[in-house]
Amino acid sequence: MGKAKITAIGCYTPPRVLTNDDLAKMVDTNDKWIVERTGIKERHIADADVATSDLAVEAAKAALLMRGIPASDVDAIIVCTVTPDMMFPATACLVQHRIGAVGAWGFDLIAACSGFVYGLTTAAHLVAGNTHKKVLVIGADTMSRIINYKDRGTCILFGDGAGAFLVEQCDDDENGFIDFLNEIDGSGGEFLKMPAGGSRMPASLETVQQEMHYVHQDGGQVFKFAVRKMHEICSTILDRNGYTADDIKLLIPHQANRRIIWATAEKLGIPLDRVVINIDKYGNTTAATIPLATRDAVESGRLKKGDLVLYAAVGAGFTVGANLWRWSF
Ligand code: COA
Repeated sequence: MGKAKITAIGCYTPPRVLTNDDLAKMVDTNDKWIVERTGIKERHIADADVATSDLAVEAAKAALLMRGIPASDVDAIIVCTVTPDMMFPATACLVQHRIGAVGAWGFDLIAACSGFVYGLTTAAHLVAGNTHKKVLVIGADTMSRIINYKDRGTCILFGDGAGAFLVEQCDDDENGFIDFLNEIDGSGGEFLKMPAGGSRMPASLETVQQEMHYVHQDGGQVFKFAVRKMHEICSTILDRNGYTADDIKLLIPHQANRRIIWATAEKLGIPLDRVVINIDKYGNTTAATIPLATRDAVESGRLKKGDLVLYAAVGAGFTVGANLWRWSF
């Protein structure tokens, strides 16, 4: 088996910002409640004519620019998203065409907030199997398209954004991909979903009138599951690789709620100065939170070559995922 490493990151968030005060004009909420209960201060929202592939293309281009290679060098594109431009063709196809990745195949990966961790796991294996040299993993979501801005339980949480990692073969034994721990618990499917628009409940006048094309969530159930599972997968993946929380340079968790992140860090015994939290600026961008948080950590000098980094996420499904990497640049 070969080894995989991350060689470049690119991110994109649409320029328009929706603050807590803006939301307080739309639903019965306020800045104090949102900050205390979630940690979110603002989120970015795409303009009406911007779709997920547009965000993904910007992120992909930025990653390729950072690496200094043409798109034609990419072997595969994995777009992790729950808000594709349309059901088909896959957003990966739209991105492949737009960036000119003429040698790439690819697909969309639906795992909600765990999407990027699943995408990274998949890319690492494509590369480690020596069948692919360069795989682009993109987490991109335009959550504002499936959010009911009359539902204060969900509209405060989500934002739009995209991030891409380039995963490549690694001849350096020291750094790169170490391990993954991904799980599904489908018994939690009811607690977070968009009910209509698929083959179970195709779009109709009724599904629109009954607001079935929006995110429906039982926030309490999701919260409890996330707190339990984030800790469980992090401690298991550390344990089985002979590491303790002290060995981790940075925990980069999915950004769903600051209280979930705080609880995870506390249970693991990782001080907050070794946890990346940027939910205040972006909210929950679903598949994009992990690359956005990584980009912020790299840019602020918190993540350097050789650092042990732990990724962890829980999302609709329920999906659960953790990855351990030793940072490569
Ligand atoms: N503004 C003001 N008050 C609000 C509110 C808002 N936006 N949303 C809910 N409330 C109210 C509730 O109506 C309730 O009032 P009541 O006590 O009079 O009934 C009170 O605040 C507490 O509601 P509750 O739902 O218990 O709040 P919470 O602390 O659990 O926070 C979430 C709600 C949604 C923020 C929280 O459950 C959560 O983050 N869950 C996880 C969601 C998630 O991560 N989803 C994505 C998964 S990847």
